[in-house]
Amino acid sequence: MRRSSPLAAFVATGLTLIVPLPAVPAHASTGSGAYVPGSAGLGDPYFPQAGNGGYDVGHYTIRLRFTPKTRHLGATTTITATATENLSRFDLDFSGPKIGKVEVNGERASYARKGQELVVTPRHGLPSGKTFTVEVSYAGRPKAIKDRALGVTGWIDTKDGAVVLAEPDGARSWFPVNDNPRDKATYTFEISAPEGLTVLANGEPKNSGVAGPRGGYRTSTWEMRRPMASYLAMVAIGKFKVTQGVVDGMPNITAYDPSLAKEFKHLHGITAKAITWESKILGDYPFSSTGGVADRLGVYYALETQGRPVYDAGMADEPTIVHELAHQWFGDSVGLRSWKDIWLNEGFASYAEWLYQEQHGGPSAENTFAEHYKHKAGSAFWKLKTGDPGRNGMFDWNAIYVRGAMTVHALRRKIGDETFFTLLRTWTKENRHSTVTTQDLIALAERLSGQNLGDLFDAWLYKAAKPKL
Ligand code: TRP
Ligand code: ZN
Repeated sequence: MRRSSPLAAFVATGLTLIVPLPAVPAHASTGSGAYVPGSAGLGDPYFPQAGNGGYDVGHYTIRLRFTPKTRHLGATTTITATATENLSRFDLDFSGPKIGKVEVNGERASYARKGQELVVTPRHGLPSGKTFTVEVSYAGRPKAIKDRALGVTGWIDTKDGAVVLAEPDGARSWFPVNDNPRDKATYTFEISAPEGLTVLANGEPKNSGVAGPRGGYRTSTWEMRRPMASYLAMVAIGKFKVTQGVVDGMPNITAYDPSLAKEFKHLHGITAKAITWESKILGDYPFSSTGGVADRLGVYYALETQGRPVYDAGMADEPTIVHELAHQWFGDSVGLRSWKDIWLNEGFASYAEWLYQEQHGGPSAENTFAEHYKHKAGSAFWKLKTGDPGRNGMFDWNAIYVRGAMTVHALRRKIGDETFFTLLRTWTKENRHSTVTTQDLIALAERLSGQNLGDLFDAWLYKAAKPKL
């Protein structure tokens, strides 16, 4: 949406102002009004600096070379974006190594780094509605982002390479980005690594996928052709045992560090089984390939990186694989507009585990729910608000994973199985490759059930207390 400048408002009321107007470039055909800086954030209450105003990214091409021995990264990221305001300048989020140069539409642009903001001032203003390209070259040693509450994210060094895991705001550690989940884009990865190492990323390898060797390096190209949030972008470099197969007519590409063979030899098969089951329950799988990557990361979590989740050592159990793959529908395809709605990702992915158990000879979801419901009113279990846990509480096990799944089950109890399973498929279908809010879920559940569900969601999401049944 275009914001009208305060200056334009004065002019419209007929006041005479002797203020030099910003020069309007000759090629400004689409936008009218003054050229203004894009905002430094998108107003996310948990991550106010993440994301930037004034443009929408369509595609990222990330070309990089990584040398595990020296930990040196040399990279050029090219962004194709469309201005949504007349931009005099704009920000990207970037916390990566030293920048060599920045170009906009093929011309050198000036830039400044302020915290996580990379402020880019192009030679010419960028008219609203027009597409532009930004190319940023940088080199040096990338660093993971360490946060007391959120753990380690971003570019993570491993013994023989590196892996990227970036939820919620680690993408800026390795490429300049509009780092907000609402700005999805397609991606091309051209990754060069020393001969003998394997490279994996989101999506599918392009053509043969591997070129070279040249100068001891090989370049692998991977494409994610469906819209993807920046925190779900993934690259894995290192020694891997790769298995290629087919599930439901699409590629299943899994890989594990050879030292994890014992733990992860079932990753490929469980992935295929989970995807087949989930497609029945949740609707058509949203991407054109699946798989998984397992490596020794020391982060103690798995992440639902789009089309190909990543698992740390110790995360090879079937429920975890079911969870990460359920995220392909809940979180990846149906994305978040705001991080405070993280329960929409984790509650549904955790509930998929409960459903999987229920349908594979384990306890019913009702039983699992009843066990957790035993937590006493007033106990710490009910302390945070599931629908607004605070930035540092966004991965709280009880408030988000367990009570998120309980919220889904409370809804199922209220609207009945038939409407509930229709809701799961309608939600994933209507919001495929898009972003949503909790309000959207409530509206859909009310539409399908014909019930007023305001009180139920209010009790489960917005009260720090045990809800009545
Ligand atoms: N979203 C991941 C999952 O549940 C987990 C995760 C990512 C996480 N980052 C984290 C958990 C940081 C705790 C802390 O699949
Ligand atoms: Zn999860």
